[in-house]
Amino acid sequence: MSRLTVVGAGYVGLVTAACMAELGHEIIAMDLDGQKIALLRQGQVPIYEPGLAELIAANHDRIEFTTEQAYAYRTGEFIFLCVDTPPTPSGDADLSRIWQAIDDLPPDEGEHILVTKSTVPVGTGALVQAELAQRGYRHISYASNPEFLREGTAIDDFMRADRIVVGADDPAVAERVAGLYEKLDRPMLITDVASAEMIKYASNAFLATKISFINEIANVCEVTGADVTVVARGMGMDRRIGPHFLQAGIGYGGSCFPKDVSALKQIAGNSGYHFQLLSAVIEVNELQKRRVIGKLKRHLGDELRGRRIALLGLSFKPNTDDIREASSIVLAGRLLAEGAVVVGYDPIAMDNIRALLPKVIFAPSAAVALEGAEACVLVTEWREFLDLDWAAAKQAMARPLLIDGRNALDAGSLMDLGFTYEGVGARVGRT
Ligand SMILES: NC(=O)c1ccc[n+]([C@@H]2O[C@H](COP(=O)([O-])OP(=O)(O)OC[C@H]3O[C@@H](n4cnc5c(N)ncnc54)[C@H](O)[C@@H]3O)[C@@H](O)[C@H]2O)c1
Repeated sequence: MSRLTVVGAGYVGLVTAACMAELGHEIIAMDLDGQKIALLRQGQVPIYEPGLAELIAANHDRIEFTTEQAYAYRTGEFIFLCVDTPPTPSGDADLSRIWQAIDDLPPDEGEHILVTKSTVPVGTGALVQAELAQRGYRHISYASNPEFLREGTAIDDFMRADRIVVGADDPAVAERVAGLYEKLDRPMLITDVASAEMIKYASNAFLATKISFINEIANVCEVTGADVTVVARGMGMDRRIGPHFLQAGIGYGGSCFPKDVSALKQIAGNSGYHFQLLSAVIEVNELQKRRVIGKLKRHLGDELRGRRIALLGLSFKPNTDDIREASSIVLAGRLLAEGAVVVGYDPIAMDNIRALLPKVIFAPSAAVALEGAEACVLVTEWREFLDLDWAAAKQAMARPLLIDGRNALDAGSLMDLGFTYEGVGARVGRT
């Protein structure tokens, strides 16, 4: 068993810490955010991720939480970088946290393997290794180990990963990093650092492309009379295509797809290659979020001023409190710009989104959000909305108009209740 320092106690860092501890490793989880660490020390988990609190609790004797940087960096045989790499205004990845961590590495103590789990542009590993060499840090070797977990199912994704990718220029280093995961017995791809970095971006960009593709098919379905859910099912039956990521909706969001797609576009652009396909993927996604406004206007008329619109689901997807790049943000912004009265509800993410959307009225429940509303937009398909008492909701609403942004509700039974229902990618709906 090995001693791992996990730098950054966010979604990736905490899941890595908990799962690696579960595999028997000793973990030091370090974050600069003292509040986060204080909560973790009291046994509280500052993010919402199903199963995470339980896994941390079950392994508490193998996880130490600290803000002590020098101690954390000195102690880990493996130093896992799980810091955030958010987008800059230009769409490039901001690597300042990575470089901060490099600056904090111990100059001359012990042997360490620095493992980057954060998503970083292709070429970052080479730059980091050059920097380490320039500083004379022979005691620190380097590997890339991109993370593919999805929020909401992160523990399972880590423990039963489709593949684990380790990139290192020294095969012995790659073997040692791969060895940490041995107990998981998952497919392992060992490669060079640049290819490992690219696998992460290429995977996310491909998935985003699939989503934008099916969303465009959905938009054409709406004007031609086909039904995208059936179309997707038929496409997915072809093994060359597969059924995953073919759910039409109101666009992807989250902390990964938007930033990684635009970072890959910038990586290509900065190297002199114009990645045309990704420009279209990004544009389609932006327009997709806004199409809801057109649907609302078709039913309510062009004037949305003063109309009360309920948004159900504010996180970027169900089972997470992450609101980064959530479709709800663009939608609420557009509706407010039209003068609508926007009422929002989310089972978990309201505290996170409140500051971003100060003009939105936040309701304590879905039922309250729907009271007096002239339309309801299902933005994020939390289970609780699928199980909602829609008959009661219809009574409470001023007008039974339902825009299902995720094709998650049962159109037939809602229309039987008297709703005007519009999903994405089909010509259903009646008043
Ligand atoms: N969230 C996901 O679903 C996911 C999935 C795969 C990969 N990734 C990638 O993993 C990385 C981390 O993402 P995240 O969502 O966990 O981010 P996050 O914002 O949730 O967490 C990052 C944490 O790092 C801490 N931090 C920043 N600089 C630090 C430093 N120098 N020392 C110690 N702590 C520091 C922050 O305080 C924060 O708590 C990103 O590169 C992201 O693209 C994320």
